[in-house]
Amino acid sequence: MQNFVFHNPTKIIFGRNTIPSIGSETIALGQKALLVYGQGSMKESGLYEEVMNSLADACVIVVEHGGVRSNPLLDHVQQGIAKAKQEGVDVIVAVGGGSVIDTAKAIAAGSVVEHDVWKFFTGKKSVKSALPVLTVLTLAAAGSEMNSGMVITNQDTQEKFGFGHRLLYPKTSILDPEITYTVPPDYTAYGAVDAIAHVLEFYMTTQDTDTPVQARFMEGLILNAMESCERCLADPRDYGGRANLMWTATLALNGLTAAGLGRVGFPMHMIEHSLSALYDVPHGAGLSVVMPGWLQWYLYQDTARIARLGQGILPSAQFQQLAGQGERAVAEQTIAFLRTWFSKVHSPVTLTEMNIPAEDIPRIAENALGLAKVWRLNQYSQAIIEEILRGCI
Ligand code: NZQ
Ligand code: ZN
Repeated sequence: MQNFVFHNPTKIIFGRNTIPSIGSETIALGQKALLVYGQGSMKESGLYEEVMNSLADACVIVVEHGGVRSNPLLDHVQQGIAKAKQEGVDVIVAVGGGSVIDTAKAIAAGSVVEHDVWKFFTGKKSVKSALPVLTVLTLAAAGSEMNSGMVITNQDTQEKFGFGHRLLYPKTSILDPEITYTVPPDYTAYGAVDAIAHVLEFYMTTQDTDTPVQARFMEGLILNAMESCERCLADPRDYGGRANLMWTATLALNGLTAAGLGRVGFPMHMIEHSLSALYDVPHGAGLSVVMPGWLQWYLYQDTARIARLGQGILPSAQFQQLAGQGERAVAEQTIAFLRTWFSKVHSPVTLTEMNIPAEDIPRIAENALGLAKVWRLNQYSQAIIEEILRGCI
């Protein structure tokens, strides 16, 4: 167990009928809000009215910035920053999934500086202050509601970059599982896949394996993501399924899983972000393709770690049967178990399923190198990324 500081300042308000608290929570942070939301689901579900009524009751002045698209774009962030500056807003309210919350955070950082917000993403500038952010989460997936990170695509350079800063943790996040009843099956599955990926990145890249608390916690999160996702797919209005999926996704990337693990990396996300940047695939769908390919490559780097995961997540009868066959067999079956589950929930597991041709692999790898540099994943050369991607065909 490595030394660590765990300090997550986000206040979580979780459960049924929690949306009406948005007004009083917002007015505690500011009087004029930029309301950031997505393409249409918020208005279709009636959530928009509920949010606007609560904000009006609390006398919050609202400036709207809707239209965030999945895999959010830099120019839409820049438009939001211009609006926030012009209107003099003092709080950013995000109502949506990861794309909306990430856009809100980027606006919160960019509204208090004169330079282009993209400089934060390339590491050329660092955040010194930010407007407060409040979120209402509508989709269990990214974990942005309780972390300091954000991911935005620069459409001019085709770079999808992420960065984080402690000033960009949301002050408050409202998580009402009932709002996620309307999330369609594909995004329900992609959300669970994303939560699994967040856990796996840390689980696999830590160099300290004497961390049983973290290991069991993470194995539990993976199993909960699978189980609750299946419940939601069987019955989209299963409150327990939605609630457990939501809290699992939040816990998967709020800093708790990585506490004590020392230096960890995000290599699968590094590669997936290039798939999203170049082909605009949903983040979770890209991850279910990259994860098995990356694990297959990693099998030769650290068989024992993948086998340890198998011990935690394979059905016990299957694990017992494999145990006599050695680490390698357990590790291979663990990768197969994950791949099979992704297919079961209809998340793609090959580039071919996403209509991405094998000839594009060098281009994808070249794109990923940009983020490898920013995230200091120096061991990932173009050749290695291409090798991993060949395992994803
Ligand atoms: O735009 P609307 O109409 O709202 O539709 C959205 C969108 O089409 C829809 N949706 C959201 N809530 C809904 C709903 N539909 C029906 N009912 C609801 N209640 O779902 C679609 C996907 O939304 P999006 O926000 O894009 O999904 P997600 O939450 O998976 O976010 C993906 C983004 O988060 C980034 C990803 O890279 C990607 O850009 N990530 C952010 C992270 C972070 N900040 O920590 C970490 C992650 O690894 C991830 O990279
Ligand atoms: Zn992710």
